[in-house]
Amino acid sequence: MRIVLVGPPGAGKGTQATRLAEKLRIPHISTGDLFRANISRQTELGKLAKSYMDAGNLVPDEVTIAMAKDRMSQPDAENGFLLDGFPRNVSQAEALDELLKAEGIKLDAVLDLEAPEDEVVKRIAGRRVCRKDSAHVFHVTYSPPKQDGVCDYCGGELYQRDDDSEETVRTRLEVYHTQTEPIIDYYRAQGLVVTISAMGPVDEVTSRALEALKSGQ
Ligand code: AP5
Ligand code: MG
Repeated sequence: MRIVLVGPPGAGKGTQATRLAEKLRIPHISTGDLFRANISRQTELGKLAKSYMDAGNLVPDEVTIAMAKDRMSQPDAENGFLLDGFPRNVSQAEALDELLKAEGIKLDAVLDLEAPEDEVVKRIAGRRVCRKDSAHVFHVTYSPPKQDGVCDYCGGELYQRDDDSEETVRTRLEVYHTQTEPIIDYYRAQGLVVTISAMGPVDEVTSRALEALKSGQ
């Protein structure tokens, strides 16, 4: 399957993508995680991305699209992928369409995770991610690690993302509404959008997502 995951910051895209990718046996491709990996390796791309990410703004399309294309061309993505955080505006969605068209393939669904703003703010405020792999995500109250400050999966140090400050979160939410939400209408016109509530326990949301993907609604 080829799926795009969309939803406001903190809705649980990364949390759900890890689980869905495992169940559906497709790679989880998160542009946010790819940028964070570049930041920790101190690459030129990482340095460029960090200035935009710390302010809560989108990294320029040119570099983002090139990075996403490169990742999607890896052998593990040949038969499907779950895109988390890409595309994030209409021009990225158009670029993805062009890329898929050139390959003669299509998206199967755009899974839209809905969560109210007060909930996403609480989720982000308590989030802790692993320094070794930012796809390893915890929450101090909702899904605490077994040992304080230590990743359950790899033993890495847990930290609070630099862009999870209250002020940056406000900008990220605004950027989501103005730049990312329009892709939902873009994909709705293609009949691809499946909307589910992201509220409730993580496992329940995963079951809801799998069910919705199966039935196409
Ligand atoms: P990115 O890393 O994609 O951040 P985001 O979209 O803002 O989303 P988050 O990762 O904050 O939230 P999430 O929905 O993944 O939630 P999570 O599962 O962690 O992007 C960061 C930045 O990179 C962007 O601002 C931009 O600068 C740049 N960027 C990335 N892609 C780009 C692109 N395509 N173009 C340009 N720039 C780009 O969950 C949140 C918390 O809630 C966790 O603590 C989790 O444990 C908890 N939680 C999850 N589910 C539940 C639940 N059901 N109940 C209770 N708690 C829950
Ligand atoms: Mg995420």
